[in-house]
Formats: sequence, C-alpha cells, structure tokens
Amino acid sequence: MKVLVVGSGGREHALVWAIARGGDVELHAAPGNPGIAAAAACHPARADDPASVVPLAVELGVDLVVVGPEAPLVAGLADELRRRGVPVFGPSAAAARIEGSKTFAKDVMDAAGVPTARTLATAEPPCVVKADGLAAGKGVWVCRTRDELDEALRAVETLGQPFHLEELLEGEELSVFAVAAGESAIALPAARDYKRVGDGDSGPNTGGMGSFSPVAGAPDAEEVVETIHRPVLRELSRRGTPFAGLLYAGLMLTARGPHVIEFNCRFGDPETQSLLPRLGDGLLGLLAAAAAGELDGVPSPAADGAAVTVVVASRDYPERSESGTPIDGIASAEATGAHVFHAGTALQDGRIVTNGGRVLGVTGTGATVADARTAAYAGVACIDFAGMRFRSDIGA
Ligand code: AMP
Ligand code: GLY
Repeated sequence: MKVLVVGSGGREHALVWAIARGGDVELHAAPGNPGIAAAAACHPARADDPASVVPLAVELGVDLVVVGPEAPLVAGLADELRRRGVPVFGPSAAAARIEGSKTFAKDVMDAAGVPTARTLATAEPPCVVKADGLAAGKGVWVCRTRDELDEALRAVETLGQPFHLEELLEGEELSVFAVAAGESAIALPAARDYKRVGDGDSGPNTGGMGSFSPVAGAPDAEEVVETIHRPVLRELSRRGTPFAGLLYAGLMLTARGPHVIEFNCRFGDPETQSLLPRLGDGLLGLLAAAAAGELDGVPSPAADGAAVTVVVASRDYPERSESGTPIDGIASAEATGAHVFHAGTALQDGRIVTNGGRVLGVTGTGATVADARTAAYAGVACIDFAGMRFRSDIGA
C-alpha cells in the first residue's frame, strides 16, 4: 500500500512512524521533515495548498492520503482528493467547519444536545472571549477579572475577526479522539495536553508543551464518544455534511460532567505522540477503513502501558520561533529507548538544526505514567541546543 502523509510537524512524524509499523507500506510525505525522512520519501509541497498536494498524490498513485493539520482540510484538500478518486483520511471543508468556525461548532453542539460552555450575551467577568475562525491558539482569552476582559476585548478587536463570549468552565482538561466515518466512530484512548508554556500552567497558551496517556480518573473514552462524538456526527450527517476523519473533542471535566471546549477536525499535537506508541500496529488499517467508510464492526484498538511526551521548544516560544540553531543528542536520546519526534527541524549542511517554535517531542513509554515520564525526561536530558526550553512537570 502507498500512503501520503500531509504535514511537517511532530504529529505527522508520529503518524508516519505508526503507519510504518503496520508493515508492507510505501510512505511519502508532503512536505515532511528530517525525522519523517527516515521512514518516508519527502516531497517539497505546500501542505496548506490543495493545488500543490493533489497533483503529487495523483502522480504518486497513492492508495491513501492522511492529512495531519487543519488548514488544508478547511481549504478543501479532502474534497479535491475525493473528486479525483484518491482515498483520504480527513473531512470535507464543510465538515471541517466544526474546527474552522467556532460559531458553527456551537450551533451543531446545541442541535445535537452536547454539553458545552453557554454563549453569553453581555461581557461580564468571569467569561471567555473567542475569535471565530482559525487563530493558531491565539484567539482565546480566559478572563477572570474586569481588567483581563478589557484587555481581551482590545486584543480581539485588533485581530479584526468576529468573536463571541462564553461561560468560563472550571476543571481539568481532557482530549478524546474518535476515528469517524459518517455516523460510525471508534474511540481512541484519552490523553491530556499541557497548553501553557511554563511549569505549573504558567505563562501564555501554546500549541501544546507536552501530553500523556492514559489519564487516571478520566471518564472512559468510549462513554465520551457515545455521549459527545456520535451525537455530533449524526447532526453533521443530518445536515448533509458527514464527517470522515479524526474528530477531536477538547473537554473540560466540570463538576457537572464533561463539557466541550472545542472540536478539532484532525489529530491533536502533541497528544498523538503519546497515543500512537500505546496502540499496536493497526493504525493504517483503521485509517484506511475510515477513508473507505467501512468502520462498522471494527473494534477499538487495544492500548498498552503508558506514554509521556515532552515538547522541547526554542528560546522565545511562543512569542517568536527560531531557526538554524544546531541540535545535538538526538541519537543518544533515541538510544535510551525514547522516541524523538521532529516538529520544527531542518537539515542544514548535514546537521539537524531548529526550524520553528516547537522543535522536538520526546516520548517515553512504560508500564505506568510515572515510568513513561522517567523515560521521556531521560531522553530529553540527552538533547542539547542553545536556548532549548521545556516543561519539567509533564505527567507529574
Ligand atoms: P481553544 O482554542 O478553544 O481550545 O481554547 C484554548 C484554551 O483556552 C483551552 O484549552 C482552555 O484551556 C481554555 N478555554 C477555552 N474555552 C474555555 C472555557 N469556556 N472555559 C475555560 N477555559 C477555556
Ligand atoms: N494539542 C492541542 C491541539 O492539537 O489543538
């Protein structure tokens, strides 16, 4: 089987790694990264641009395209591939609006009867200000005080996007993924992501500084999929825009039960780096079955042990990203048994250098989260580059 993975981050490296475990497969990536290049042929395409990816997929004659990031999906990559007869794991642009438009997502959740934060008519603290549309994690302000709210309203106006106000939910967060095709959904094990840049959840929001799985005390993923994902999938089908791909629910575990903070239309990053090492080698079969719309009767994949992923970022992340700083110790980290997933790296004069904010994701595995955490930090200890930063409390 020939598979093309679209994207260039840590999530895509983990997807390529897990698909390659499935055995007899020829892997390609668009555009990939130096880590991905160890398992896949990397092609210089612009992931966000269907006009760049579709001809490549057709020319290669791939049997399946797996789309990593949201932007190409929102731009209609999956629609264009399906039109050309190329099987694809990833939703249509219409269904990807579940991530691309927060107003659309609220509307679908209300119609599906899925618990989420109430929309508020007036700006009073405490509340959350959310810009509509993709804002790469920068469009959300959690406001507990009047000052924070005033600041948020100023900032969202600068963005120049429509926005809405919603109830501030209190609790622990949880990410639950379902592999979906139409109204069928297969639950994957739950994971937790760390959004803030600093230890103890301090500092600004980021794309994610670490993750772990399983999450002790969390509700069962299958139960969450039954009460949250499947009603939303039925509502999307009813509207004539069925969802095929990965439906990601970002949840707040409130005293009144799980409430949806957001839906995403793709695998989470860095949760995927902690999920896939726990699954067996059946990922490719699962994604291909979803792409073919044949998920009925497919069992949830069994998950083993635990995994912890520590993101190693560049000096001023998330304010600025850096490139061209040489990275040492990747091979030594891998020799400890840790997985080193490349996120923002490049190859320069034969050396691996930084090329972005989140540089690497180091995943440790073990029987328990505590063992996996020890393994992940043993891997991180081998990595060295100028200005590297990471959280020291992932999985603690
Ligand atoms: P989002 O981009 O919607 O995932 O929001 C980013 C982060 O903001 C989430 O991971 C939460 O930590 C926080 N957040 C978003 N919405 C809410 C809410 N209604 N109540 C509390 N925190 C929220
Ligand atoms: N880890 C958060 C996300 O993928 O959106």
